[in-house]
Amino acid sequence: MNALPTVYFYDQGVEARDFTDEIVVGLSKTQKTLSPKFFYDEKGSQLFTEITRQPEYYPTRTETQLLRDHSSEISQLIGEDFLLIEYGSGSSEKIRILLDSLRPSLYAPLDISRDYLAQAAEALGREYPWLEVHATCVDFTVDFELPFESEKRHVSFFPGSSIGNFERSDAMEFLSRIRSLVGADGGLLIGVDMKKDINVLNEAYNDKSGVTADFNLNILEHINREYGANFDLGRFRHEATYDVAQGCIQMFLVSTCDQSVSVAGHNFQFSDGEKVHTENSHKYTVDEVLGMAVDAGFSRAKTWLDEDELFGVFYLYSE
Ligand code: AVI
Repeated sequence: MNALPTVYFYDQGVEARDFTDEIVVGLSKTQKTLSPKFFYDEKGSQLFTEITRQPEYYPTRTETQLLRDHSSEISQLIGEDFLLIEYGSGSSEKIRILLDSLRPSLYAPLDISRDYLAQAAEALGREYPWLEVHATCVDFTVDFELPFESEKRHVSFFPGSSIGNFERSDAMEFLSRIRSLVGADGGLLIGVDMKKDINVLNEAYNDKSGVTADFNLNILEHINREYGANFDLGRFRHEATYDVAQGCIQMFLVSTCDQSVSVAGHNFQFSDGEKVHTENSHKYTVDEVLGMAVDAGFSRAKTWLDEDELFGVFYLYSE
């Protein structure tokens, strides 16, 4: 543990994991698949930040505005003297909107991206000298325990509709794990992207500047660099479409010719038009979110929606 006056850093050894087998298994399936976690190398994280600034990508600005508009009400609901745990804190941008009104006793950002997290935690420590920061580098999608103890009530924050990138049953399980971690007398503040007009959804994932396309294709560059692959990025194209039956945006990389690609010494054949699945982004109705919350063990909820009902922020009580 490396301590600054009020910033502590814990490393759960994420960097050391080798995902070669997972990539090879994914590309060996009938429906070839690459996990969305491979999006987020340094360039991918920057491209995602750029996506959030695209005019078509409404989720980030809508959620940010909701948090701004309702920060004092959120603060009243949560109460005082608590530990705030943020899942996927990234640059800790959104929490800045809430910190002054929430005034948690401790802030525990969790993220898989080690350097990004360390820099963000130190910057936050400097900006908010009254705040004790306990940053943990961890893959929170698998079971983990907080590497420090706190007697304070636990409240989690999971913004950005990242819950949408889980399959529906996994999302419910993930919420149950958050419920166990916060225990009784805690809660979860979560942002969820709502079901809406299909054109709005399709445009959000097919921005005119092509940033989402670059973000999607960057997964191949990442795998070339880190896992000894030779994908030719010019021979794949981005595709993202909303699947009404499944209630999710499905993202693919489509091979534009018959080709063979080598990954970590394994050869894979791609036919012209064959798709590699890279991401699902599930959209929910308010009732679906509330149903999932109850199934996960939360007792009640407070909901805030923007006037166009594009995005929802929910405070789920754990009692
Ligand atoms: C991180 N996640 C919530 C984004 C989403 O909207 O599902 C990732 C993304 N993929 C393409 N654009 C944005």
